[in-house]
Amino acid sequence: MSANLNQTNIEIDDPNFQDVFTNLQGNILKGHGRDHSRHVFFRFIGNSDENCRWVEKFASKITSTLGQEQQTRQYKAGGRHQVFVNLMLSCSGYQALGIKQKYWPQDLAFRSGMKDLQVRYDTVPRGDHQPKSNPLNDDVQQWESAFRSDIDGMILLAYAGDSPSETDQLLADKVTELKNELAGIAEITLVQVGHVMRNDKAQVIEHFGFVDGVSNPKFFFSDLNEEFKNGGYSRNDASASLNTVLVKDPGGDGNSYGTYVTYRKLQQNIKGFWKKLDLLANTLSELGQQKVDAEYAGALCVGRFKDGTPISEQGNDGWSNLFNNFNYDDDVDGLRCPFHAHTRKTNPRGDTVRQFNSPPTIEQSRRIVRRGISFGEKNLAPDSEWTEAGLLFISLQASIVDQFIFMQHTWCNNEGFIRKKTGIDPLVGQLANGETPQPQSWPGKWGNGASKVDFEFSGFVRNLGGEYLFMPSIHFLRHLS
Ligand code: HEM
Repeated sequence: MSANLNQTNIEIDDPNFQDVFTNLQGNILKGHGRDHSRHVFFRFIGNSDENCRWVEKFASKITSTLGQEQQTRQYKAGGRHQVFVNLMLSCSGYQALGIKQKYWPQDLAFRSGMKDLQVRYDTVPRGDHQPKSNPLNDDVQQWESAFRSDIDGMILLAYAGDSPSETDQLLADKVTELKNELAGIAEITLVQVGHVMRNDKAQVIEHFGFVDGVSNPKFFFSDLNEEFKNGGYSRNDASASLNTVLVKDPGGDGNSYGTYVTYRKLQQNIKGFWKKLDLLANTLSELGQQKVDAEYAGALCVGRFKDGTPISEQGNDGWSNLFNNFNYDDDVDGLRCPFHAHTRKTNPRGDTVRQFNSPPTIEQSRRIVRRGISFGEKNLAPDSEWTEAGLLFISLQASIVDQFIFMQHTWCNNEGFIRKKTGIDPLVGQLANGETPQPQSWPGKWGNGASKVDFEFSGFVRNLGGEYLFMPSIHFLRHLS
């Protein structure tokens, strides 16, 4: 019997899901929680039988959803972290394993790979339109060479030891161990080092200095409950059904599910970003009706202040940090949080219902699960632009085309979303080579439409490469031959 993927608010020990969770890789329904990771990209060089034998053996090291839960319980009871392991494959990986096509995951983007800019995606579900090629506006020529060449799969290793040196050593040892066992089977083409950065309140931040990882779909009731403690969920329901992120694994048994993975190495120009924010703040102060600083201008770009406070929320006592319990019902014209702000583009919280009369469930179904991690030194004020700093963006979803690509293409990169002349997402919006972005429109005074200021803000995040992958069920990986 198949599991019911329409379900929300389940619990990890739900008896109906034990077989599914034994087979499902961890880090999907809940983040693995370790602060350090290595992303080991590889390309098979062996024959398909040898490759399969290695994968079947390696599958016993993968952390399942239930395994992750057991590890968390041990850790909370005073134990140590254990190494967390995921394995994901690209479409060429399925080919190199000699898997019959009927067992390949079906998503069109997965099948084509991220480098194929010619394939046409149906990115707008309604109206007259032509399916579009290169919806992300990527320029593969600018990618790092390892991402330009073939990637068959990626192994994610994560750990948090007692000290940074112990963690680094253990993860380096694991990568060496992997390299040795892969001799004659696969070449390691790239290892990306990720680490969680935190502010002085121990909240996770990204390189521009903003709290990150706040809003994510929640699959377990206990995780939703955490959200409840942090401000409630009366104005934003973060619960999500399993089919937001899971699909049936075509190669597994009846209890086998997997997820599609979008991987993008996004470099951040920290110095350039803050310089431009200074300019935006000066322009807003001059032309608007309110004196503002760069931090405020940053909140207009991101949709939240550096400490995570949503810019759309202000009570009698000043800013009220409702954490994630907010929507834009009291800001239908984008005068508090501009329509182009990153969090509003990527989660319009009701805007598409108001603007297009589209059912709330459609907007909800675009949500992605973010499991990315920062790369590069923690230096929030570097001397030069485009340093080795950024985000190893990872999103998980049931459909790459309908979720990640839709979000990036139809929302972030679209100057006409959600209204004409909204402009692109100032953080991650990307136009095609040679196209010049139009200025976005910024509220000159919080909540007041009288003075709007035009100002162009974009270009401080660039993509250095990526791939679409699938994280199969453990059952499938154990029984390849
Ligand atoms: C939220 C930063 C790339 C999708 C956020 C937040 C920050 C942030 C600071 C607010 C905190 C939170 O809710 O977790 C960044 C940076 C990026 C980046 C610095 C690149 C370097 C992307 C991309 C996408 C994306 C490429 C997808 C196309 C989202 C989503 C949210 C979010 C869905 C949650 C919105 C909500 O539910 O309110 N991001 N992000 N981000 N970001 Fe990004």
